[in-house]
Amino acid sequence: MISPSIGRALQRHIPAIGDITSKSPLAYRLSRATVPVVNTVQMAVAEAYINGLEVPDVVLRSLFDTCMPILFKHFPSLLAPYDWVLTETPHVAEGSHDLMKLQYDLPQGMLNRMLGEGSLIYPKYSMGLWENGAENLEQSQIHMMDDVIEKLGIQDGDRILDFGCGWGCVPNYILSKFPNVQMTGLNLSHEQCDYIRNKMTDSESYLSSGRFQLFEGDLNDASFTEPFDKILSVGVFCHVGNLTQAFQKLSTFLKPLGKVFIHIITVRTPNNISSAYTHKYIFPHGRYWNFDAVPNCDRDLKTIDRWYMNGTNYSQTFAIWLQNFDRVQDEIRVLDYGIDYARFRRIWRFYLIWFVANFASCDGEINGNGQYLLERR
Ligand SMILES: C[S@@+](CC[C@H](N)C(=O)[O-])C[C@H]1O[C@@H](n2cnc3c(N)ncnc32)[C@H](O)[C@@H]1O
Repeated sequence: MISPSIGRALQRHIPAIGDITSKSPLAYRLSRATVPVVNTVQMAVAEAYINGLEVPDVVLRSLFDTCMPILFKHFPSLLAPYDWVLTETPHVAEGSHDLMKLQYDLPQGMLNRMLGEGSLIYPKYSMGLWENGAENLEQSQIHMMDDVIEKLGIQDGDRILDFGCGWGCVPNYILSKFPNVQMTGLNLSHEQCDYIRNKMTDSESYLSSGRFQLFEGDLNDASFTEPFDKILSVGVFCHVGNLTQAFQKLSTFLKPLGKVFIHIITVRTPNNISSAYTHKYIFPHGRYWNFDAVPNCDRDLKTIDRWYMNGTNYSQTFAIWLQNFDRVQDEIRVLDYGIDYARFRRIWRFYLIWFVANFASCDGEINGNGQYLLERR
């Protein structure tokens, strides 16, 4: 039997397999040279589908179910389609305006129906928590927000910033629970901010309570004059290219004993991952940070606790979004996506089916969500 140290030494010289960051220079270069081939094959399959190739969902799903565990377990370096995925890049958020155009400022009539919308639970574009017995999407989102409230230790009277606040779902829910909390939301999506501004004039909404402030703007330019007791950010750091700079920025927004709670997609592979497909069609410059990336970059904030949330929670959430998306086809096909609707629908179905499979693969133990509690150093 090969001893673990010999095994590790051998792996350093095998291209593509294992931890790309610890490869010998030649193996590293060979690994990186393999990646364009993988990107090309992936795009050929995806673009054949979005250009109209008829592939039943079960076939697509079984393709992902077969490939993803092999890639996650044995070839994670092939899941880093570009060099920038592996490291921190210059901006807190990369390509934010492209991201808004391709994703968050899409017709809200489509996004809201897909994500679900209720009188208290507004559209929420992040993981629902199913493992505590939630029976539907709304309950799973409530369980998830209750979990955040508990882990962040929110107390009545706190001043809280929601960094990347979406449609205001998390602020609205927290304001409904705590009569003296003040919340501030930051979001670059003009369409989502319009949704929130509407709620801020709706007497039924907690966003109209006078305890909520909205800043429409980019994380890159954010600054606040009054410090916060707590900052939370749910589902946003996959759009952050530089964790160290982001934490430096957040630390300046906090009171001395302030805390930050971050919830993001994460992978328990040695390297960060992304895909050529999502970069081109869904989340430009999006990357899924390795589970250790946050504690490795927390120069100005200190990670005091962290949790891995099993991927089956997000798989189940994506499965409901896919069902919702399919169910409302007749209503949403008339909206203006800037491209032919049949093509748009296929781009989105490929993404949704893939993500249902991704998060479920390897029993949810590799691709899930990471939660981090940090405090000022
Ligand atoms: C996946 S959604 C999550 C929204 C919300 N936190 C939730 O859980 O529903 C990501 C959010 O981050 C916002 N966002 C992404 N990049 C941003 C940037 N550079 N500046 C400000 N907001 C940004 C998006 O507009 C969107 O509202």
